Amino acid sequence: MRVIIHPDPQSASIRAANWIAELVRRKPACVLGLATGSTPIATYRELARLHQEEGLDFSRVTTFNLDEYVGLPPTHPQSYRYFMDENLFREIDIPPQNTNVPDGRALDFERHCEAYERQIKAAGNIDLQLLGIGVDGHIAFNEPGSSLGSRTRIKTLAWQTVQDNARFFGSEADVPRMAITMGVGTILDSRQCLLLALGSSKADAIAATVEGPVTAQVTASALQLHRDVVVILDEGAASQLKRREYYVNVESVQRELENVRSANQKNNQGPVG
Ligand code: GLP
Repeated sequence: MRVIIHPDPQSASIRAANWIAELVRRKPACVLGLATGSTPIATYRELARLHQEEGLDFSRVTTFNLDEYVGLPPTHPQSYRYFMDENLFREIDIPPQNTNVPDGRALDFERHCEAYERQIKAAGNIDLQLLGIGVDGHIAFNEPGSSLGSRTRIKTLAWQTVQDNARFFGSEADVPRMAITMGVGTILDSRQCLLLALGSSKADAIAATVEGPVTAQVTASALQLHRDVVVILDEGAASQLKRREYYVNVESVQRELENVRSANQKNNQGPVG
């Protein structure tokens, strides 16, 4: 895992947005896996700005969201479809038919989940999956105990998650108890994963994810098995990492390497003879 620590949530979010933007520039018809929650909001705002002010082109991008609450229609302000439309899709030039969010009102959930998996494959698989993390270390809605090989399916939310998300619904009683979610296995099939965590409430979950054992009790720890994971943190989320200094050092060495590389490139481009 590559761990990148930023001084504050804003600069961490801009780094995450730039990471995504670089892929969109390099591969205009890329497939993005997207996340909801409060964490990616500033990242989406920056992507919208990059589109509106710098012409970042999303017209050929396809997206798949991680999850959706069971029972909520797309018009419900707390549905993840509504969240995505409001916070990103309506701000950029992505064609609506290129955006995929599981349907919380599907008639046959098993078939819907299988079809979602097939759609991801048919699109050529996810190039970059953006992830947040729950305070109990879950990714998407893969609550503690989820199989690390799981695929898209229905999950019952942990009580901790119901309590955490009650702030969006007004009361615990209004939080749906079930969700459709990509499985840990589905997420691990992405070519690259970008985990973004902000604030000290995520510090324990991040320490367990990055430095703890791989365990279904902390489903984000399964990312240790993936060959290409970037973790972008602010200082709060990084505050429980034991090897913090090492990660910071890796990044400064990386920067030096990039400087040497671009200096070499410039020298090679100079006038010949
Ligand atoms: C929910 C979502 C996750 C998200 C988590 C954290 O459980 N299903 O995808 O990572 O909340 O949310 P927040 O970013 O609001 O802390």
